[in-house]
Amino acid sequence: MNKDTIVGVLGAGSMGSGIAQIAATQEHQVVLVDLNTEALAKAQASLEKILARLEEKERISSAEEVLSRIIFSEKITDFSNCGIVIEAIIENIEIKQKVFSNLEDIVSESCVLASNTSSLSIASIACSCKISERVIGIHFFNPAPLMPLVEIIPAVQTSEATKNDARALIDGWKKVTVLTKDTPGFIVNRVARPFYGEALRIYEEGIADFATIDWAMTELGGFRMGPFTLMDYIGNDVNYTVTETVFAAFYYDQRYKPSFTQKRHSEAGWYGRKSGRGYYNYAEGTEQPNPNKDEVLGKQILDRILMMLINEAVDALFLNIATKEDIDLAMTKGVNYPKGLLSWADEIGLDKVLNHLEEMFNEYGEDRYRPSPLLRRMVRDGKKFF
Ligand SMILES: NC(=O)c1ccc[n+]([C@@H]2O[C@H](COP(=O)([O-])OP(=O)(O)OC[C@H]3O[C@@H](n4cnc5c(N)ncnc54)[C@H](O)[C@@H]3O)[C@@H](O)[C@H]2O)c1
Repeated sequence: MNKDTIVGVLGAGSMGSGIAQIAATQEHQVVLVDLNTEALAKAQASLEKILARLEEKERISSAEEVLSRIIFSEKITDFSNCGIVIEAIIENIEIKQKVFSNLEDIVSESCVLASNTSSLSIASIACSCKISERVIGIHFFNPAPLMPLVEIIPAVQTSEATKNDARALIDGWKKVTVLTKDTPGFIVNRVARPFYGEALRIYEEGIADFATIDWAMTELGGFRMGPFTLMDYIGNDVNYTVTETVFAAFYYDQRYKPSFTQKRHSEAGWYGRKSGRGYYNYAEGTEQPNPNKDEVLGKQILDRILMMLINEAVDALFLNIATKEDIDLAMTKGVNYPKGLLSWADEIGLDKVLNHLEEMFNEYGEDRYRPSPLLRRMVRDGKKFF
């Protein structure tokens, strides 16, 4: 694939229109298809606005030129000349399978078919295709034009050629690609679970309130956003559903157990910013709660969440989900963590990380706090990750 490759994007929602913007900016002809006329018109209007702003800021030379490369269409048959089609439609396995099967009747035999799914298995999407070795996961982060990370996810069926071609294409778009196994949550959405889950657990135990936990993670930990502020951004409905999906996909491993607090917030319609209320109240004029800036308490909160995040990263390495370099890159480039978790573990000292986890495991007696076997092994052998 090269600049002459026509890129198809299916679904003109937030992700699809972002991916179309990237490809057109990278000088590809793009075909952006959505079955919903309104969604298509909205995507076109929003791309016109974004590109005009980028031209003003001199980030691109001509908005008109970039836009002229995008064909907005309601017909999936317009993909016939594409070298790759990236699907970004609704997160539903039956619908995706049907769409992939239909796509195969339209595109050439050499066309790569990619899915931007966040939580579905690529193998299950690929199995709906006759040429399943051409199917791959290409997972962008939101907003796609701004977030540098893209996870490349070959399914068991995916050929080496498809994997290499897809990765080279996205690398050429100046993205940071990481290679990950086709397992639930891939790298980022797996390793990041404790950022939400452990924060919710700390709140449920009555150790601290939302504002204090957010303060500890941002001020003491250097994270760009606290867990509750972030969940309010993502939407508690969306974040809760992802947690439930990941929990089930991991055969109910207790480490990924969802939280009643988040479930109730979601049931109450307290989704976060989009509904005007989540963990915080966003109604105009509402005074936001003040955190308790007790450094000892703050450090206790940060350490507990951080140890759980590190344990998750170590376990992903233990199970060969990705390389240690890619695991650290994924968290810094996909979700803006201040440091890669494995490098952070080296810095803290692996023995200290292990001790902390063992203390929690002993205190709670819950499987959730079990240290990764790799962590034990590395401490025993006196090794570091980097
Ligand atoms: N939003 C995120 O933060 C995010 C991040 C990474 C990946 N994803 C994944 O990207 C995909 C899309 O997410 P989104 O947030 O852009 O969704 P969205 O709801 O904003 O957009 C989906 C679009 O797909 C269209 N659509 C639905 N069924 C279709 C079909 N059969 N054919 C053509 N168009 C169809 C809809 O009209 C809609 O415009 C999902 O698989 C999601 O899991 C989302």
